[in-house]
Amino acid sequence: MSQFTKFIILPSLLLALLYVSINTATFDITNNYSYTLWAAALSGGGQQLDLGQTWSINVNAGQIKGCIWARTGCNHSGTNGTNCQTGDCGGLLRCLGYGSPPNTLAEYTLNQYMKMDYIDRSVIDGFNIPMSFLLTSNGCTIGPTCTADVNGQCPSVLKAPGGCNNPCTIFKTDEYCCNFKNCDPTDYSKYFKGLCPDAFSYPKDYENTTYTCSGGTNYKVVFCP
Ligand SMILES: *[C@@H]1O[C@H](CO)[C@@H](O)[C@H](O)[C@H]1NC(C)=O
Ligand SMILES: *[C@@H]1O[C@H](CO)[C@@H](O)[C@H](O)[C@H]1NC(C)=O
Ligand SMILES: *[C@@H]1O[C@H](CO)[C@@H](O)[C@H](O)[C@H]1NC(C)=O
Ligand SMILES: *[C@@H]1O[C@H](CO)[C@@H](O)[C@H](O)[C@H]1NC(C)=O
Repeated sequence: MSQFTKFIILPSLLLALLYVSINTATFDITNNYSYTLWAAALSGGGQQLDLGQTWSINVNAGQIKGCIWARTGCNHSGTNGTNCQTGDCGGLLRCLGYGSPPNTLAEYTLNQYMKMDYIDRSVIDGFNIPMSFLLTSNGCTIGPTCTADVNGQCPSVLKAPGGCNNPCTIFKTDEYCCNFKNCDPTDYSKYFKGLCPDAFSYPKDYENTTYTCSGGTNYKVVFCP
């Protein structure tokens, strides 16, 4: 090996080691739905997931806050190539921004006070498919799951192709969107809460919604658990 090659390899090894040590979490995202889905993550992008496939993303310390969702009914059409019925992100395969409602969200905030991670699931942007968000290491207890038939029983005014909208998306009022310091659950948010008791059903929903885990935990998101 030439001196020059050593000079190149050593710094890249050190960089790789540094990367591993600041890496805080791996998210394994699995499709257990009967159809093909297009998974999306901020940050992370997106990928087509056939039944049984898993997409792993690494989230490093610099990427503290993020979310993961599924897109359904996607066509390879439009100028950006991947147009989806739910969760669409500007027609891109690899999302750079949030998805269009309705879409069930898995949200995380990593490396907070005392190196704790916070995770939750949210139907504040509505619901497209059930998902579970589990912790896979550090001996943490199992996190939220929502497997109820939210779309089947969706109030007709909230029904959307491929999902069930949150009332804020439809009515856009302060009451439903919770544009106040405090706000109360509404009949529609209670519909979601009844079926997904451990998900955010409106922005100020703090009942059984946030799960805490020590940092360095890895996570597993399953669509249609
Ligand atoms: C996908 O293509 C089908 C058939 O052309 C069309 O009916 C449907 O609306 C398309 N979906 C999207 C999200 O573009
Ligand atoms: C295509 O992607 C670009 C960049 O994200 C975005 O600005 C644009 O609105 C997208 N086009 C469509 C038709 O969604
Ligand atoms: C929150 O969790 C507690 C304890 O498990 C339970 O008694 C309560 O019913 C839950 N609240 C909701 C809205 O599900
Ligand atoms: C996938 O779905 C089947 C039911 O269709 C269920 O029995 C199984 O536990 C699910 N797998 C995961 C990893 O959630």
